[in-house]
Amino acid sequence: MASDDYKLNAAKAALELIEDGMKVGLGTGSTAAIFIDLLGERVKDGLDVVCVPTSRASEIQAANLGIQLATLDEEPFLDVTVDGADELDQELRLIKGGGGAHLREKIVAMASERLIIIADESKVVDQLGAFPLPVEVDGFGLRSTFEMISVLCAELDLKQDLQVRETPEGEFFKTDGGHYILDCHFDVIPDPEELADCLSLIPGVIESGLFLGIAERAIVGGADGVTVYEAPFEDEDEIV
Ligand code: A5P
Repeated sequence: MASDDYKLNAAKAALELIEDGMKVGLGTGSTAAIFIDLLGERVKDGLDVVCVPTSRASEIQAANLGIQLATLDEEPFLDVTVDGADELDQELRLIKGGGGAHLREKIVAMASERLIIIADESKVVDQLGAFPLPVEVDGFGLRSTFEMISVLCAELDLKQDLQVRETPEGEFFKTDGGHYILDCHFDVIPDPEELADCLSLIPGVIESGLFLGIAERAIVGGADGVTVYEAPFEDEDEIV
């Protein structure tokens, strides 16, 4: 079975958690796109949900499928968000932002009672960091913010290999919010909490792709079927 089948199986399992009347956050990326396609089929069959997309790409896809959309200003609290991840560890700490959407993904996830991650098994790691950590930064003082993050990396004994993300045409990549992304090639992040705390002190940093203590569950498709990982934190009412 190929990675796309693993993603499909994870997305199908997540779809079973969606019920009539729910307000649902829609993630971004190839796995989330599979979920959105499946959700669109359920909507055609009469499922009644209102969805908040985390990116322009997911918004366009969902709108084309006839899924009812709202903004977070119209629906500030959601029941569940289903999204992908670039890496996840056993504690359900995540790296996200490979598609440059992690700021909006985090805003939508935090507005949701539950964040469910769907992924293929290649995303499960023992330690975060092999995937370059995306850090969304303001364009004002970009160079200064770049240097401050480099100094922070040195202080935390992390590899200093930062790159401003570019488009295939060689332009600086811009997020839906008009910001830039610094991809930090750490290889390993021994203490993700410490790194996230330190990054948040740099004023030009808008948001890092570290999602810590946010995901409740990860549904991971693999060669042996679907594996469900639960976050170590307590949650009183389970969905399934
Ligand atoms: C988007 O910015 C990311 O956070 C995605 O959720 C992440 O990159 C996963 O994407 P894939 O499902 O395409 O691997």
